[in-house]
Amino acid sequence: MPQMPAVNPVRVPVITPGGSYDIVIGRGLLDDVVRYAGLAPHTRRVVVIASGVPAKLYAPRVVDALSAAGLHVRLVEVPDGEQAKNLTTVAGLYEEFADFELGRDDAVFAVGGGVTGDMAGFAAASWHRGVAVVQVPTTLLAQVDSAVGGKTGVNLPSGKNLVGAFHQPRSVVVDLDTLSTLEERDRRAGLGEVAKYGFIADPVVLSLLEESPDDAVAAAPGVIDELVVRSLRCKAGVVSADEKEAGERALLNYGHTVGHAVEAAGGYARYRHGEAVALGMVFAARLSVAVGEAEPSLVDRTVALLAGLGLPTGGLEATTAELWSYLRRDKKARDGVRFVVCSKPGAARLVDQPSADLIDELLDSLR
Ligand code: GLY
Repeated sequence: MPQMPAVNPVRVPVITPGGSYDIVIGRGLLDDVVRYAGLAPHTRRVVVIASGVPAKLYAPRVVDALSAAGLHVRLVEVPDGEQAKNLTTVAGLYEEFADFELGRDDAVFAVGGGVTGDMAGFAAASWHRGVAVVQVPTTLLAQVDSAVGGKTGVNLPSGKNLVGAFHQPRSVVVDLDTLSTLEERDRRAGLGEVAKYGFIADPVVLSLLEESPDDAVAAAPGVIDELVVRSLRCKAGVVSADEKEAGERALLNYGHTVGHAVEAAGGYARYRHGEAVALGMVFAARLSVAVGEAEPSLVDRTVALLAGLGLPTGGLEATTAELWSYLRRDKKARDGVRFVVCSKPGAARLVDQPSADLIDELLDSLR
């Protein structure tokens, strides 16, 4: 995949009561990460947390850049994958922090995907009641979503992300060159989350995905840069307006209510997150039409766009009863399950639980 020569990175500000920072988006940023990290002047020690491919390819570059700036750095490799996102791994991180004497003015860098970012963010949020975390996401999903907005946490045997904290990062450094080593399936899945921003906030994202699906999947320079910057402008705007998800931030869950249930019913193995969200967005589009919120064309457009990206739009094997058992457990469910509907591309709102019969019918349509 061709790499673009370094150009000036784009900065997207996030402004919240819990902390204000820039998301810095560009290429070749890892070797210059200190410039974009926003570290406090008293920072002396940094723990860099990574796993899998990023631990081999990207974290060493971050370590070198930090060391060259005179900081004491320790690289800690954590086990790969969602099953390692638990309190045992976090306890291991605390032991590393203690041994390295990581202090209040020091910092944690998370280099990798959403699992690493969530877990490192939570360890940073709880160490000494909160030390700085710099998010360096290297997957498309983490770049456009999980690294931004301060949600951190780990899973329990009884559910995903049940333990966590809001802890805004000191900065988010998005180096688009890292997408070249991502599996194609993960790039496609990440584009499911990108499409979500198109439906809820920015219809230009949808046009770009429709006009250049292959370039988007290949993370071709130019196309992916614009998609990521547009996605992050949406995410930053929503998080800045509603840091703790009292209202508008819930719109980021478009396609996620059913998506999370699909992911759980597949044992977190059958579908990547973005694939489950694609099915969830097909459900959400049909729901939007069924409750009279959107024109019927929304469904055709959703299915065509997602299929064009190679994402699933049907063929779900889970039973309706199984999906319901996860829908009821959604931690965002209050009196009933809340859904996000799309009124027209670029506009969304929350609705309270529609009739169970309608939900059943729409879940059935995903098979
Ligand atoms: N991923 C949804 C949020 O950050 O609120």
